[in-house]
Parts: sequence; C-alpha cells; structure tokens
Amino acid sequence: MERLLFAGIDEPGLDTLEVYERRGGYQALRRALQMTPEAVLHELEESELRGRGGAGFQMAKKASFLPKGSMDKYLCCNADESEPGAFKDRELMQKNPHQLIEGVVIAAWSAGINRAFIYIRGEYVLQADILDAAVAEAERAGYLGERILGSEHTLSLVVHRGAGAYICGEETALLDSLEGKRGNPRLKPPFPANQGLYQGPTLINNVETLSAVPHILAMGGADYARLGVANSTGTKVVSVSGHVQRPGNYEIELGIPSREIIYGLAGGPPEGRAIKCWFPGGSSAPVLTAEDLDLAYDFDSMAKAGSMLGSGSIIVIDDSTPIIDVALKVAKFYRHESCGKCTPCREGTNWTVTMLERIDAGLATPMDLDIMASVQDHIIGHCLCVLGDSMAMPIGSMIAKFRDEFEAHMEAARHSSPLGTAPPDTAPALIQGAV
Ligand SMILES: Cc1cc2nc3c(=O)[nH]c(=O)nc-3n(C[C@H](O)[C@H](O)[C@H](O)COP(=O)(O)O)c2cc1C
Repeated sequence: MERLLFAGIDEPGLDTLEVYERRGGYQALRRALQMTPEAVLHELEESELRGRGGAGFQMAKKASFLPKGSMDKYLCCNADESEPGAFKDRELMQKNPHQLIEGVVIAAWSAGINRAFIYIRGEYVLQADILDAAVAEAERAGYLGERILGSEHTLSLVVHRGAGAYICGEETALLDSLEGKRGNPRLKPPFPANQGLYQGPTLINNVETLSAVPHILAMGGADYARLGVANSTGTKVVSVSGHVQRPGNYEIELGIPSREIIYGLAGGPPEGRAIKCWFPGGSSAPVLTAEDLDLAYDFDSMAKAGSMLGSGSIIVIDDSTPIIDVALKVAKFYRHESCGKCTPCREGTNWTVTMLERIDAGLATPMDLDIMASVQDHIIGHCLCVLGDSMAMPIGSMIAKFRDEFEAHMEAARHSSPLGTAPPDTAPALIQGAV
C-alpha cells in the first residue's frame, strides 16, 4: 500500500516549506479554498475518518456539531501524546509539520473557525520549535493569517506548550490548561463542540486525524474510504514498542491482521521468546494474548475482542516479564497522573497500587484478586473522565486472563518473603501505604 501520512517521511528537509511544496504540499488547501466549507465538510464525511486520538469518533460528525454563525469558534489540535506506548504524533510533527498545519487550515475552513491552537506536550521541545518555525513559514507564504491565498478564510494558529501532565491530553482538561488554569477535566455535557475554549464552540482533534485531512481533500473522501475496512477507513500510524525486534512507527491500512504488524513489521519478540500479552491501543487498552494475533487490526475487531484500538499504540510483553510487574507499572502510572478531582479515580488508582503491592509481597489471598477485580468494575464508568477507566480496564483484563499467574506469584512470594510469615493482622502494616 502507498503510504499517505508517512509518504517521504524520511526525506531530508521535509519539515521545510520548500520541500513540502515540492512534494505537492498545500495543493489540497488550494483546492479546499475553491470549495464551500459545506463541500469540504462533505468530503470529510465521505471519508468516514475516525479520530486517531483514542475515542475513534467520526471527525466530520464532530465538526458538524459546531453551531453555524459568526461567533468566535476554535480549533484545538491535541498534540499532548502522553499515553505510554504512543509516539506517532511526535514523528508526524517533527518530520512533517506542514502536513499538520495544512490539515488544521482545511479543517478550520470546513467548520467556520478563525482561531486555532496546537496544544503540544511540554516535553516535546524539539517538535514545538519545529512547529513554531513551520507556522512562521506558512504565515509568510500566505497559508495562515488574513484572507488566506486571497480567499474568505482567515486563521491564526498558535503553538501552545503543555503543562506536563497526562491528564492535559483529555480534551476538557486540555481546554482548562490552555486557558491558563490547572488542567482538570470538566463535567460533560456541555461538550466542547458547544461550549469549549473560552466558552466558545471548539473542535478538538488529534495530530494524526488532522494530518490525514489534506490527503482526503487530495484524493477525495470516497476514495479515501476505500482504504481500510468498513467502519475503520483509511490508514493508521501504529506505534509498536515493548518486546519486539524492530520497534517504531508503521503506517498500515486499517484491517490488516495484527500478526502482520507485530511479527511482519516489528519483527516479533526476541529469538526464543513468546508473546505473553499485548496492549493493542496503549497502556489503557485491555490486554490481548497470543491467541488474538490473527484478529484484524481495526476499531470494531479490537472492540469485539474486549479491548480497543485507542491511539493505535501496540505494546508487546513477552514471557520473560511477570504479569504482576506489568500491572504495577500500569497502575502506578495512572495513580501518579490522576488529577484527584473525582473520588473513584483518585482513591481507586491508589487502592489498586496498594493491593498489587500486597500481592507482590505475598500478603494477599486469592480473595483479594476478586475484590480488586470488583473495584475495577466500580471505577469504570464512574469517573469525571476516562483516566480512571484507563487503569481499571487493563488491570481488570490482566486479572481475568492471568489469574493463575497472579495466584502462583502470591503463593511463591508468601513463602519467600519474611513478611509472608508475619501474623496476618500485622503483616499489612509492614508494607508502606498498606490499608
Ligand atoms: C486521560 C486522557 C488522556 C488523553 N490524551 C490524549 C492525547 O494525548 N492525545 C489525543 O489526541 N487524545 C487524547 N485523549 C483523547 C481526547 O480526550 C480526545 O478524545 C481526542 O483528542 C479527540 O481527537 P480525535 O477525535 O481526533 O481522536 C485523552 C483522553 C484521556 C481521557
């Protein structure tokens, strides 16, 4: 398959306007500006492009929710990319910033938006500098600013460096952070399309979603929709990491077998190792096992298997790693990143880490696994945003799929740890933070 977003990605100088234009850059914008906003939106609708940031909501549908009229409307590109396992947006921004800028200008035209922001993860200093330079170049060339290329479209674009927290990738926390407040999620509804940045209607899309927009305009929405499979159209940049021989970003057509990505492209686990489990959509996706490798890699197949495609970040864990280590790593990340605004997430993530530490220290019983699984059920769907769910879903899946290993670990730890022989009522107090 021809690559779209990654076409020529390693060509030297692609981050400059000169090389980008030489490769046909900004032609899609010229085409879009000769069309009405409604016609551009229609192309996006035809493409059936689903958001690449996690939730998989159809991009054009979201854009169509913005009210018509001349009020101040905003576009926020979500470039926070803090999910463990995700690193595709970094490469897209670093190597091809104009592709994203062109996508932002076209998307803004389709929804009648005049002010746009790219909210970029604070640690992405190099990528933010590259974007700043590209925005300045685009302004000088008339692709941004007043009456773009002599059309009716005016757009300002500001690159805003983020505050250094995973929660700022959640769309409403992102808006608060952009407004200069602490990045905490807002209660929804109202949804950002109605009341977002500075209370104005706001379209929020991921870097990869917006980077696909020029290609949709260039090839036509219907042709784009022929790529991939039904309900998962187009291509996807997949970040593959963990126990694979060739970790990296790969652009694939949605719907190819997962095995082809993990073994074919990323080289599979190291020689002599087998896959224990894999996260198909970043650390917040329920884990799948080696039995699921022949599933098609698309939104619906991942959901049917009880997991999710999420941001398209595959993390592979081989049989050298105890599942308790994986669970602890995941739970500690979400505990650290919980903003603390809502109780199920704040208490649930902390409690889960404590329970996992008890299991690791040999102080738990098999009944604790049942309690822990039920706690995950109480977190899912009960938080202000899905950060709590993002821990509960993978942890719940590990308990369900690797219960035997958890129990065996508990038993072995109980026999080998001096704490394991302590009287049951005093032992919990011996580990820090035990409840
Ligand atoms: C805790 C949390 C972190 C998130 N982080 C990101 C992120 O870094 N980048 C992103 O695009 N979406 C992230 N999302 C999803 C956004 O809330 C939102 O759905 C997305 O930006 C919409 O863009 P899309 O429709 O193009 O996918 C996160 C969601 C949650 C709950």
